[in-house]
Amino acid sequence: MIINCEKNFDIKRLTSFKIGGLINEVYFPENINEFEQILNENPNIKVFGNLSNTLVSDSGYDGKIVLTTKMNSVQIDDNKIIADCGVKGPKLAQIACENNLSGLEFMIGFPGSIGGEVYMNASANSQAISDKLSFAICYSPIEKKILKLSNEEMNFSYRKSRCQKDNLIVLQAEFILDKKDKTLIKQQMDENLKFRKEHQPSLSLPNCGSIFKNPQGESAGRLLDSIGAKNMSIGGVKIWKNHANFIVNNNSGSSLDVLTLMFEMFTKVKENYNIELEPEIIFLGGKNQRENELCKILYKK
Ligand code: EPU
Repeated sequence: MIINCEKNFDIKRLTSFKIGGLINEVYFPENINEFEQILNENPNIKVFGNLSNTLVSDSGYDGKIVLTTKMNSVQIDDNKIIADCGVKGPKLAQIACENNLSGLEFMIGFPGSIGGEVYMNASANSQAISDKLSFAICYSPIEKKILKLSNEEMNFSYRKSRCQKDNLIVLQAEFILDKKDKTLIKQQMDENLKFRKEHQPSLSLPNCGSIFKNPQGESAGRLLDSIGAKNMSIGGVKIWKNHANFIVNNNSGSSLDVLTLMFEMFTKVKENYNIELEPEIIFLGGKNQRENELCKILYKK
């Protein structure tokens, strides 16, 4: 099987932040068999979806990654939808709506892909991935095999799933949805888009969504706002004017600018509230010493 792989791949144009350097090797599987072969042959390979939640270092990455952008199959059977990991959230939300199926309306405003959303149990507007997922097909690099995990076995909680702990890679997911009139579903999706427009920056201002997770019982945005984060900027990046938990790349910012600003946000909240914010965005890098130092503190590794 010849699998599409590109060397010295310039990733910047694909990332939501419009930041990032060269990646040694990028694989683009088109189906589960190809994906499994890549994973079997490359035990330490990292997997990314739509790069909407990922900061890639300008210094690039000296390893191999998989991008799931070509894993695009969607199957519908009555009130069940099975989607490959590379399907984009807004597309799946639209397909569900056209088929009078409710439960994925929250995905309409998320630029992410299904694999990433299942991995982190994405949520918004009072809906979460864990509400409607019946099972996920995941690859276990430890067992070197594909597992079919039920909703319960996925151990979902806020922004967490079993995938993070066990390094599982999401290949496919099935959702069992509620039958509902498409006009009502569309109404809900329009409301979600309106909320997003009012509360979150559009992608024409390159950004990666929420930077930090909400600490238990608290809001990262509120904490950051209270310490004056909306006035913070470093180099070409700054905090968005309407929500203190978003960084926007408004002037050709660098990955180091983003990490330095995250460190400043983290430090101010720690000093004022003794709370250590946990990043929601994922970092891919490792070749820049200062970035590595900041990541040690922010990601505790
Ligand atoms: N707030 C402030 N100041 C700010 C920002 C927010 O006081 O600068 C307050 C708001 O007024 C509100 C509270 O903080 O009372 C929460 O803010 P918001 O409703 O905007 O939601 P959030 O908790 O910041 C979460 C998710 C979003 C999701 C929205 C809508 C996290 C980290 N973020 O945001 O998810 O879209 O709820 O449901 O859980 C993402 O994960 O990338 C993302 C955008």
